[in-house]
Amino acid sequence: MSEQRQLRLVVNGEVRTGQVEPRKLLVDFLREDLGLTGTHVGCEHGICGACTILVNGEAARSCLMLAVQADGAELLTVEGLAREGRLHPLQDAFWEHHGLQCGFCTPGMLIAAYDLLQTNPTPTEEEIRAGLSAVLCRCTGYHGIVRAVQAAAECLRGGEE
Ligand code: FES
Ligand code: FES
Repeated sequence: MSEQRQLRLVVNGEVRTGQVEPRKLLVDFLREDLGLTGTHVGCEHGICGACTILVNGEAARSCLMLAVQADGAELLTVEGLAREGRLHPLQDAFWEHHGLQCGFCTPGMLIAAYDLLQTNPTPTEEEIRAGLSAVLCRCTGYHGIVRAVQAAAECLRGGEE
């Protein structure tokens, strides 16, 4: 058995620690060691985007990172979107506007949308489609997802327009 490495990182605002083999993927560390199974594993090749999380504020595919590469980092996973028992406006909007069917892509889609709205609070439809293009959805045809992101953006801007 190979040597274990000690990790310390902040996940969804909480300090988490663990011991991992150097070859362990970040997504597997989140799911297996921290019990954060909201982040999904699809292709494990950086294609589908289901495993998207924020690492130090930037969207990253957690299947393409080793857990040891996240040592000392600050992560946001889908579990960190809801605050004080209330869903994030993006989560509410996905629910309201049928932004999901099977839900497999949804954690990655929500994090990609969160990342997009952080950098562009007033995206056009085209910008939303481009911003989410790194996450594949096999079910929805994307229309509901785009409507949900538009609605969440408006809600986050305080319902103006
Ligand atoms: S599981 Fe990471 S991109 Fe598909
Ligand atoms: S809702 Fe099924 S893959 Fe997107």
